[in-house]
Amino acid sequence: HEPLRDAAERQGITLGFALTPGHLNDPGYRAIAEREFNLVVAENAMKWDATEPSQGSYSWGQADQVADFAAAQDADLYGHTLVWHSQLPGWAEGITDPTRLRDAMYDHIDAVAGRYAGDVDSWDVVNEMWEQDGSRRQSVFQRVLGDGYIADALTRARQAAPDADLCLNDYSTDGINAKSTAMYDLVADLLADGVPIDCVGFQSHLIVGQVPSTYQQNLQRFADLGVDVRITELDVRMNVPASTTDLAQQARDYRAVVEACLAVDRCTGVTVWGIDDGHSWVPDVFGGQGAALPWDAQYRAKPAYTAIAEAL
Ligand code: XIL
Repeated sequence: HEPLRDAAERQGITLGFALTPGHLNDPGYRAIAEREFNLVVAENAMKWDATEPSQGSYSWGQADQVADFAAAQDADLYGHTLVWHSQLPGWAEGITDPTRLRDAMYDHIDAVAGRYAGDVDSWDVVNEMWEQDGSRRQSVFQRVLGDGYIADALTRARQAAPDADLCLNDYSTDGINAKSTAMYDLVADLLADGVPIDCVGFQSHLIVGQVPSTYQQNLQRFADLGVDVRITELDVRMNVPASTTDLAQQARDYRAVVEACLAVDRCTGVTVWGIDDGHSWVPDVFGGQGAALPWDAQYRAKPAYTAIAEAL
């Protein structure tokens, strides 16, 4: 097959992957990273704990490596993420005074979005703000600042990076359900209030055979609101060792996701959350599961890779 990025470009979308720069020392990983993708997102390097481990003191080494790799590849750079309850340093997690927390959030946005202004094409400004039932997640930001923190973060990000598209991102919002409807209602409210919001990300950490039946319809309803949509963290996990049957189903699942994006005008593309099964967050977090990515741990293309190539 031709490089996936060439096929994606012809379709008018970007095909992305989550990069951990240290893995580039592995020639097999690097070869796929350089050949297949026209969008790069940092798997961890632009998160709060990586960029501002203690208040007001920033560390850019890994994040710059991701930005430099994207530039060298002539790939888009996707920013992940400015405001999130997880991988948040203890000093921020512990702030109880609203003025101090808002200032810390603004300083963080100014520094990180400001540093990559003009380089990052889109930012996940706020990540994972919802509970499954569609109520707000009780993060430190929600508890101390209240509902308005999302609008405040978006407004601040627009000032810090005027050329970046500004997104909200979450998981289990992939089909139509209480959680995605909460996101939908929020986006409608933000647009009505004139708050800057350009895009919504659907992580799509899926289980084999469980692409929601309303997947495309869900993307479409957000697009119809007037925002771009993107599949931001795709992987399809299964019990390991993987069976041939599950790997074949996984290929159909990858295909269904790419086809859903292609069918929705405002879907900007698909990002896979890694490259190969040897470097995936899945086994660390979901016991007994893995094999979630398009390449295996020996960098051999799996049926899922072929399915992506054929869908594009
Ligand atoms: C994960 C990374 O892949 C891991 O390396 C890290 O240890 C934890 O975070 N939702 C997100 C991503 O928005 O940032 C997470 O990435 C996966 C779930």
